[in-house]
Amino acid sequence: MTSIHDYREVFLAYLKKSITQTKPVGLYDPVHYILDLGGKRLRPVMTLLAADVYGEDYTKALDAAVAVEVFHNFTLLHDDIMDAAPLRRGMPTVHKKWDENTGILSGDAMMILAYQSFNAYQDATYKSLMTLFSKTALEVCEGQQYDVDFETRDDVTVDEYLLMIKLKTSVLVACALQMGAIIAGKDRNEQQRVYQYGIELGLAFQLMDDYLDAYGDPETFGKEVGGDIRENKKTYLYLMSEANATYTNELRALFSVDHATQTDEQIDAKKEKAKQLFDASGGKQATLDAIKKHTAHALEIIETLDISQDHKKMLAAFSKDLMSRIS
Ligand code: IPE
Ligand code: IPE
Ligand code: MG
Ligand code: MG
Ligand code: MG
Repeated sequence: MTSIHDYREVFLAYLKKSITQTKPVGLYDPVHYILDLGGKRLRPVMTLLAADVYGEDYTKALDAAVAVEVFHNFTLLHDDIMDAAPLRRGMPTVHKKWDENTGILSGDAMMILAYQSFNAYQDATYKSLMTLFSKTALEVCEGQQYDVDFETRDDVTVDEYLLMIKLKTSVLVACALQMGAIIAGKDRNEQQRVYQYGIELGLAFQLMDDYLDAYGDPETFGKEVGGDIRENKKTYLYLMSEANATYTNELRALFSVDHATQTDEQIDAKKEKAKQLFDASGGKQATLDAIKKHTAHALEIIETLDISQDHKKMLAAFSKDLMSRIS
């Protein structure tokens, strides 16, 4: 059986061969910078894994894997501008190392490169992949808009938050898996099941991302710890803390301050205060519980998939590992 490590290695070699443009350097250097910075390669691994567990030669899924990883990295360039993020994978973000215009245009080019990867497929497979990918890409934009809209609202509900993270994060994870199933020629029902597994895994994954944003170790997290607090992001940590009436007013006041009006010292104090409140209110624990709940849902769906017992075990181990991640 192929290991996660093997999928990643094969993918990385193929990615290097696939994206070779160099000029103008102002456009392509940032593309190679972000793609070479590493990252977990979660989504392409899931595409290869899905093709493999469904009995297809997984190397046939490499172009779709490149598409999903290049698209993901494109969203990071634009997301880091939108979130005013200084760090990505332990290094300066593209808009900090170069400038915002560079982040925008190199991001645009990456989205187009992602679409070009699908030219490797034909006929019905091509059409299915393109249809799914375009729907997903638009949903990611919708999720990102909700995320930004919520920064300036104080009445965001948990259901709205869950929809937002489903759109900005889960659908791409789910799409990565479904693409593997499409390439393996699985029927619609099975495609839907593996998609749903990706949705639950993606929800747990984004909840964990929100948790780590506040509580991650700056040495290993690779991003600015507390960036979501600075930006007044209405994460699950915030919403569950704010739902505790003792803390509602204090949290709403804290999360309505515009960071542009604050000094670095004030922002650091805000981060500390928010974390104290997340802790005292029970919001921190509620977030850990929600991560467990969605991981458990994902594990239940694995049991319904049309794959071998050994592959079910492999997927389960992979899903659980993601929940103990540190970056
Ligand atoms: C970051 O994704 C953006 C989110 C959807 C949380 P990852 O945590 O998969 O980022 P990398 O690719 O491993 O750096
Ligand atoms: C990002 O969510 C989702 C997308 C990039 C589409 P975040 O803003 O939480 O991701 P990070 O924390 O910057 O990686
Ligand atoms: Mg961000
Ligand atoms: Mg964001
Ligand atoms: Mg985040």
